[in-house]
Amino acid sequence: MMRRACKFNAELLDFVRPKVQAGVTTEQIDSWVHEYTSQHGHVPACLGYQGEAGPFPKSCCTSVNDVICHGIPDDYTLQDGDIVNVDITTIVDGWHGDQSETFIIGQPSDDARRVVQCAFDCLYLAIDNISPGCTVSDIGHAVVRRAAQDGFGVVDKYVGHGIGRNFHQRPNIPHVPGPQTDRDRLFPGMCFTIEPMINVGKPRGICDKSDGWTVRTADGKLSAQFEHTILMTEQGPEVLTLTEDGPQQGHQF
Ligand code: MF3
Ligand code: CO
Ligand code: CO
Repeated sequence: MMRRACKFNAELLDFVRPKVQAGVTTEQIDSWVHEYTSQHGHVPACLGYQGEAGPFPKSCCTSVNDVICHGIPDDYTLQDGDIVNVDITTIVDGWHGDQSETFIIGQPSDDARRVVQCAFDCLYLAIDNISPGCTVSDIGHAVVRRAAQDGFGVVDKYVGHGIGRNFHQRPNIPHVPGPQTDRDRLFPGMCFTIEPMINVGKPRGICDKSDGWTVRTADGKLSAQFEHTILMTEQGPEVLTLTEDGPQQGHQF
């Protein structure tokens, strides 16, 4: 069931990916997500998802430039040099698939290209660093090591998560190691996300008081993120949200 949900979610991202271009508003991205999902009889998990500040109003998150995560699609028009993370989660027959990519619009600045590359590398190095029965810390160790090569900050307040019948379930999957992640283990049969958020500057984020969702870097510098849903098997991690269309391991931006 998780393979099916994640495959659908990945096909939806394949549908959206080529359309994310300069001149498009983030609301247009949201409507493609909403229409494709409902036309296939499925449910966008973000729409109405309950947070501390109330329900999320749209069907996906679009996080532009200094937005770390949970950006709300609106009338902002993407322009040359922007980076935008599109984070999509679908419920297919009660099971959740969750993934995101950061897209570069036109010609990026050096910082923009490097932070996108770093976030992408962090995701795949983390996947490469885990095996059946490993600790959740193995994810944070790989991410922190790669981010340090660029001097970039790793967001610690927002984390990956177990996933299945619920959107967010235990265990938390932080992208920095800590005492709890030394105890939590990844066993065959577990599904979880890895979704490192990497900042050009400091890790700290500030949640927008007026909408209750949008998290921006405190220092105003750029932030990038990639996310996959993973199944741990006896043989190692299986990336459930991967298709042939998107950027593959080793991709250079
Ligand atoms: N998709 C995000 C995650 O990776 C969560 C978004 S919750 C929302 O966990 F309500 F903002 F959509
Ligand atoms: Co997500
Ligand atoms: Co997630």
